[in-house]
Amino acid sequence: MSAVQLTYEDCKRILAQERLPRAFVNLDAFDSNARKMFSILEGTGKTMRIASKSLRCADLLGRAFELGGAAAKGVMSFTVEEADFLVRRGFDDILVAYPTARAKDFEILCGLAARGADVSIVCDSEENARALSAAGRAAGVVIQLVVEVDMSLRPAGGAAHLGVRRSTVRTGADALRVARAAEKAGGAAVIGIMGYEAQIAGMADENPFSRALNPARKLIREMSKPDVRRRRESVVSFLRKNGVDLRIVNGGGTGSLDFTSRDDSCTETTAGSGFYCPHLFSYYSNLDLTPAAFFALQASRFPARRMVACNGGGYVASGEAGEDRLPLPWLPKGARLTKLEGAGEVQTPVELPHGVSISPGDPVIFRHAKAGELTERFNELLLISDKDAVGYVPTYRGEGFCFL
Ligand SMILES: Cc1ncc(COP(=O)(O)O)c(C=O)c1O
Repeated sequence: MSAVQLTYEDCKRILAQERLPRAFVNLDAFDSNARKMFSILEGTGKTMRIASKSLRCADLLGRAFELGGAAAKGVMSFTVEEADFLVRRGFDDILVAYPTARAKDFEILCGLAARGADVSIVCDSEENARALSAAGRAAGVVIQLVVEVDMSLRPAGGAAHLGVRRSTVRTGADALRVARAAEKAGGAAVIGIMGYEAQIAGMADENPFSRALNPARKLIREMSKPDVRRRRESVVSFLRKNGVDLRIVNGGGTGSLDFTSRDDSCTETTAGSGFYCPHLFSYYSNLDLTPAAFFALQASRFPARRMVACNGGGYVASGEAGEDRLPLPWLPKGARLTKLEGAGEVQTPVELPHGVSISPGDPVIFRHAKAGELTERFNELLLISDKDAVGYVPTYRGEGFCFL
């Protein structure tokens, strides 16, 4: 166990006077993860755009920027409303990475542009580009667009699709059509592209919950690399040749920092989840991060020998349904969920290993499977530094925001 990691005895002492459940962040681990991730970028000339959806806490987003210094540049935001909130909080250079077709969002985007905020939004269709451009023109502003290029691996002539299902823009010509549609009404302009290679960045290849699939995952990740590199480069050079000025060429995520930061066509790479290192991010062969975000439940019942039932805990993660989306009992070491109940809405039974005893009211410590989703269950995060509590910070939810 690394020196910055908390033991069960540390957690028990720190949480002794806390109400449970309680979410907490070990800042020493958070900082160590940040240093590791920024060090991957060293010498590449690339900057990191921090994915706010994976933190959902303005204070910790600020801390990530402080730790990154010049290597941290820009936020990858997940909604227009969130971008507006972040600008009010003093954040700058915000890319909303998911498209919108809602008039209310267009209004917010126009307001941001009118205030001179550097906010851009992902767009992947001519229709959406035209609508945004018309809204921008009506408001007398230019909305900045970033075209999302599909980076999935599509072997067998496209019969298989390995990656996320998001954009239909795959070639330079597809992207140029979106750029031209934006230009036509004059209220929007393409300033960049985003190519998210999810089948590398978001696919853990040492997943203990489905070991049999790991060799296939490794293969997909390796096969994707030359394909992603070649296609991203081809889209970028085609757009530049056709006079589209690309300020942002974004790619990647925590799981592909090493690969994406060495892709010459990118100007930047995204990362967010690695700061908290939820348990799904402990299963990548190319990452060595330290668990930093946790939640503690109270052991309130003792239904069998070597078993406790905790209050709450059913904080299941999004994505492909499976056992790996459940929270992971972390401390005391060796604690496990039961197969039949999993993590429950109000009660979560946990099996304890031999020799571990827990008293009524003691905490059981868990890790969420994903990063930002944990914060949607808690109003605040208890911060721990040097193995002691040092304060609380509000989550987005704690500030009264539920953006998505
Ligand atoms: C567009 C985009 N880029 C990057 C990421 C990766 O973020 P993280 O580093 O939190 O895994 C995601 C995650 O879903 C994403 O949707």
